[in-house]
Amino acid sequence: MKRRRFLGIVLAVLGSTAAGSLAYPLLRFFAPPARDNKTKSISIRKSDIRLGEAKEIVFNNNPVIVINRYEKGFVAFSKVCTHLGCLVEYDKGLRKLVCPCHAGTFDLDGNVLSGPPPRPLPAIPLKVEGDFVVIG
Ligand code: FES
Repeated sequence: MKRRRFLGIVLAVLGSTAAGSLAYPLLRFFAPPARDNKTKSISIRKSDIRLGEAKEIVFNNNPVIVINRYEKGFVAFSKVCTHLGCLVEYDKGLRKLVCPCHAGTFDLDGNVLSGPPPRPLPAIPLKVEGDFVVIG
């Protein structure tokens, strides 16, 4: 192989690599967005969460806690604290949600009781259908 032909092949390979690395981001930019892969709803048997108990689930890649409250029924909240994003825990004895990071506390309606959280916990839509709790 002559030197001139070898250099031509090397330049062609480098050029096509450079063109590909420029074209790919452009094609991705103009391509339509991927479909929304969010879960529409999750069903849990009511009997899986006894009165006063809670169950943790993952809904649309977010940690969620579903609580079967005394007198008020089922409710679901994001577990992500509105202060700095730690995950709150359900304290069955105190009937509160407690953030382990800075001692923020929330009542079982999601309202801030104490500590630094600036907002209530976001509620997740929930309905009771027959024997099931449907989240989402
Ligand atoms: S992150 Fe929850 S109180 Fe600070």
